[in-house]
Amino acid sequence: MSIDYKKEIERLKKKLPVTVVGHYYQRDEVFEMADITGDSLELARRCDADNNPWVVFCGVGFMGQSVKIIAPEKRVLMPKIACCAMARMMDGSYFDESVAYMNKHGIKTEDILPITYINSDASVKAKVGVMGGMVCTSSNAYKIIEKGLESGKKILFVPDRCLGQNFANSMGLKSCVIGAEGEECNPQEADVICFNGFCSVHQLFTVDDIEFYREKFEGIKIAVHPECDPAVVDAADFAGSTSQLIKYVNDLDPEQKVAIGTEYNLVNRMRKGNTYVLSSTKPECPTMNETTLEDLYLTLKSIEDNKPINEIFVEPEIRKYAKLALDRMLAL
Ligand code: 13P
Ligand code: SF4
Repeated sequence: MSIDYKKEIERLKKKLPVTVVGHYYQRDEVFEMADITGDSLELARRCDADNNPWVVFCGVGFMGQSVKIIAPEKRVLMPKIACCAMARMMDGSYFDESVAYMNKHGIKTEDILPITYINSDASVKAKVGVMGGMVCTSSNAYKIIEKGLESGKKILFVPDRCLGQNFANSMGLKSCVIGAEGEECNPQEADVICFNGFCSVHQLFTVDDIEFYREKFEGIKIAVHPECDPAVVDAADFAGSTSQLIKYVNDLDPEQKVAIGTEYNLVNRMRKGNTYVLSSTKPECPTMNETTLEDLYLTLKSIEDNKPINEIFVEPEIRKYAKLALDRMLAL
């Protein structure tokens, strides 16, 4: 006999003290089951304020970790412990190497203020916390970098080179990328020094795509996520986090055509006649798409059966320092 997953998920949600959380990039059928939806910043905030002791997080690993760091008393389960490809590009040792690179170029450790994008492992957030740094998301990076600059220190931005460079550009700051091909990164001459990480999904959008749409539809607007290449962000009309993109599109005249450069599930959900995906290939995030309705059902069922699966744990020492970096962001 086949299981009606939707019906079973509804039953389990009613019965159990659990909150189902879903990022905008989740498949539609999973997203529809979530009690809380939003961008990474909203999800971190709202999970903390939520009263249920259980959280089932449909998203990628760093998001579940962030809830566990902010609210350790909660039991956090993930239907799929899928790791964001960008977060996987950096660990504690790469972070140390980046600091060593700056040291080698005459910048003392005490003169570095690290900022990590929330798309990073807890171990990286902990390193940042120890050095007095902060976490940021794509919706508050401007504010966090601005705050960081008040220290008078050089900003080490990890792991996303695009986010670091895009916000540095928008603030009129000089940036460079450690290890970027064909480019010498001299930390003495830059305000923001970026690690060479990136999002493979957002690298799919190109300036050619923008030119294609501008030629095809006169007056079309182009809106992209700041994880896109700086040349793409430069050529776009608007760049913002997932929530900011939704607001931008909702505020447009319904007749206004817009092409959007971010993950497919979100753009597809926003599409109302005049909205296009800014790519000829389908920009799906493979790890976000791993979570299925069946996975969500099995995770909720494991709570009912008292045999929780895929629980997120963060070592106390890592949690302590990662929390410092997250709390500094939330305080702003
Ligand atoms: P948001 O913070 O905008 O939700 O982005 C998260 C993400 O992973 C984008 O690729
Ligand atoms: Fe990570 Fe990119 Fe997927 Fe966002 S879209 S979760 S940054 S791999």
